[in-house]
Amino acid sequence: MSRNKWQVLTILSLIFLAALGLRADFRAGFYAPVEQGAMRQMQPEVSSTDANYGAGQFPQLEPELAAGDGKETLERNCSLCHSPRYVTMQPPLPAETWAAEVDKMRKVLGAAIPEDEAKKIVDYLSAHYTPETRKR
Ligand code: HEC
Repeated sequence: MSRNKWQVLTILSLIFLAALGLRADFRAGFYAPVEQGAMRQMQPEVSSTDANYGAGQFPQLEPELAAGDGKETLERNCSLCHSPRYVTMQPPLPAETWAAEVDKMRKVLGAAIPEDEAKKIVDYLSAHYTPETRKR
């Protein structure tokens, strides 16, 4: 082939490639089915069809207090504002500290616990939640 023919062939190839590029640009707006799938948004989650939601029961995992005289008195009086877990999550405390704690609940924080029941609770705590008496 002559040199001229090569030049013409090269120019024609370049024009062909440029046309391919242009075509690719003009393809904007047309998406093959596969690309459409890739563009799709997620389905909105439907959690309920009737707008009624159930939250179930609030879990109340109360600690098992040590069995003994005064347990029921403590549970009845000391569960009004917080869980009796506040007792079991303390480290073993001396009896005087428990007495002061029950005193604080009554006089500072307003727990309406009669004198005799308060004494019963302190006795119970001293019998089960001091360094000497606490089992677990
Ligand atoms: C009137 C509501 C109320 C009652 C009833 C109540 N408490 Fe409390 N208790 C609180 C509050 C409020 C706190 C948190 C106080 C704080 O952060 O200083 C607390 C905290 C505690 C704590 C954690 C230590 C502390 O001092 O913060 C323990 C232990 C405790 N209470 C034991 C008891 C016991 C035992 C009883 C029953 C004799 C009882 N509570 C009854 C309101 C109450």
